[in-house]
Amino acid sequence: MSLSKSLFGSVFFALVFFSFSLSWAASDPARHSLLQCLSESIGSPDVSAIVVSNTNPNFTSVLGARIHNSRFNRSSTPKPAIIITPFEESHVSAAVICSQKLGFQLRTRSGGHDYEGLSYVSDQPFFMLDMYNLHSVSIDMADESAWVQAGATLGELYYNIWQKSNVHGFPAGVCPTVGVGGHISGGGYGTLIRKYGVSTDHLVDAKIVDANGKILDRKGMGEDLFWAIRGGGGGSFGVILAYKIKLVRVPETVTVFRVERSLEDNATEVAFKWQTVAATTDSNLFMRMLLQPNTKNNQATVKVSILGLFLGDADGVVTLLNKDFPELGLRKNKCTEMRWIDSVLWWAEFDLGTPPIVLQYRNNKDTSFLKRKSDYVQTPIPRDGLESLWKKMSENGKVGLACNAYGGIMNKIKETETAFPHRAGNLYKIQYWVNWYEPDNEADVTYTNQAKAVHEFMTRFVSNNPRRAYLNYRDIDIGTTKTWSYEEGKAYGVSYFHGNYERLVDVKTKVDPNNFFRYEQSIPPRSANINIYDISVYK
Ligand SMILES: Cc1cc2nc3c(=O)[nH]c(=O)nc-3n(C[C@H](O)[C@H](O)[C@H](O)COP(=O)(O)OP(=O)(O)OC[C@H]3O[C@@H](n4cnc5c(N)ncnc54)[C@H](O)[C@@H]3O)c2cc1C
Ligand SMILES: *[C@@H]1O[C@H](CO)[C@@H](O)[C@H](O)[C@H]1NC(C)=O
Ligand SMILES: *[C@@H]1O[C@H](CO)[C@@H](O)[C@H](O)[C@H]1NC(C)=O
Ligand SMILES: *[C@@H]1O[C@H](CO)[C@@H](O)[C@H](O)[C@H]1NC(C)=O
Repeated sequence: MSLSKSLFGSVFFALVFFSFSLSWAASDPARHSLLQCLSESIGSPDVSAIVVSNTNPNFTSVLGARIHNSRFNRSSTPKPAIIITPFEESHVSAAVICSQKLGFQLRTRSGGHDYEGLSYVSDQPFFMLDMYNLHSVSIDMADESAWVQAGATLGELYYNIWQKSNVHGFPAGVCPTVGVGGHISGGGYGTLIRKYGVSTDHLVDAKIVDANGKILDRKGMGEDLFWAIRGGGGGSFGVILAYKIKLVRVPETVTVFRVERSLEDNATEVAFKWQTVAATTDSNLFMRMLLQPNTKNNQATVKVSILGLFLGDADGVVTLLNKDFPELGLRKNKCTEMRWIDSVLWWAEFDLGTPPIVLQYRNNKDTSFLKRKSDYVQTPIPRDGLESLWKKMSENGKVGLACNAYGGIMNKIKETETAFPHRAGNLYKIQYWVNWYEPDNEADVTYTNQAKAVHEFMTRFVSNNPRRAYLNYRDIDIGTTKTWSYEEGKAYGVSYFHGNYERLVDVKTKVDPNNFFRYEQSIPPRSANINIYDISVYK
């Protein structure tokens, strides 16, 4: 990509953006043209119910309803020109066709949990497709499978499974408001990972709208594209309407526990040992380790917490850990036996006894500003390494590390089996997390810099060449693209996908050569071909 071409691109887009802003301030021609196009495409005269333009009084509330990071909820955040809210599959096809025809980018949002807001923010003129209304879950117990529409949340999925069976579950994320749409296509990590792998390992069919507006199932899309949406992220290839997933078996009774240690109580030894035990113990046991800066007796320190889910009873896990992990000193009075669905609520930090129906509630109550980053650890961090980390964390501010165990079945699945590449050889994944409530832009700089500092400090302990990262823990610091060249895409592509980046580029080249489905971290086609759509309708 030559400098002059990319410079031309930026100037061009700036001009386009400027002329759009002027034109819809005057008369909202985008809305008018979109209504006309959608109506022709769908074959129905009144499509206004699925079009919320930025002059509609409901625009701010519809947009804000699924923003989960207040950093992208500011008046200065670039907004879509129009939000399209389909309630039928044909509406999605029409949205894809009409956005192209009108020269707008399309961002697809399901649950809106993207940590960098990429499902609803773009610096180019764009429409946002809000999958919210497409949220049905239909369970087929005879086949132990389910069709789930992209706009459903994980909570809705778990709740619907539980209504049909108390011995079935699904391996997916911990936070119930996460959308199925982004989550499954990006991998999907949760407390059943060691026993059953990631969500995408249980995908058996899907329906996707391609760049031509065609609705394709697995047979129609072919095995290459189906492979790509299993971990490669849906947003580069089309709009996923629904997934068919295979459910998994869970016991009637499971056990959870939480043990906290301070540095005076051998926390370093516990953390050191956790690194190998968590990845090698019985795959019925999942353990997360939280490392958090803390203050005790006015002194900055670090708190280590171990949270566990055992697919079995309390006696079973106490016996297992007294053998594998005596340093933890787990006793039965620290364990709580419950139904699997109640463990979902427990991990999501609801009070014990909360009825499962709350998993159906989709309203967003988060109002925090946040930054996340990720890493994979392949060899245990030595004790003195941990001690230097405690020092760094307690001097650095608010950043915590959530360490999530791998191993178990993850060691048995080949890296190329799906586009999600993080398999054998990883002991655990780290999520660096920091949340804050100060609304000013300066706070963003302060806290994101804190997250960067800890991530930088960890370089010597984590995977390298490439340094791996988890797509669903979106982090734009890894790299972004404006030109969608293969080389630019490689910066984040090999971190997120490792060797699978090449095949993802091939699939992209085949299914979306004009790169309609593009965003800051999308998979580029093999040779950059920025399609500049006809914008003459606005002149
Ligand atoms: C509070 C919180 C907790 C989380 N917990 C976990 C966890 O336990 N485990 C885990 O693995 N991850 C977790 N995540 C990360 C989460 O898995 C990702 O952010 C995921 O991509 C969210 O999916 P979504 O549909 O909600 O997001 P969105 O913001 O709607 O979309 C994310 C990306 O997917 C694309 N996309 C969305 N829908 C579609 C579609 N229908 N077709 C094509 N592309 C689409 C978007 O364009 C965007 O690029 C968490 C995130 C948050 C904010
Ligand atoms: C705004 O939303 C309300 C409630 O959903 C709806 O009744 C109303 O028609 C909407 N207004 C417009 C202009 O779309
Ligand atoms: C976004 O802003 C709206 C309106 O100011 C507010 O009601 C909502 O709670 C905010 N959401 C987040 C996640 O910041
Ligand atoms: C910490 O380790 C020492 C030495 O192994 C042991 O004697 C002590 O009981 C441990 N403390 C706790 C709280 O487990």
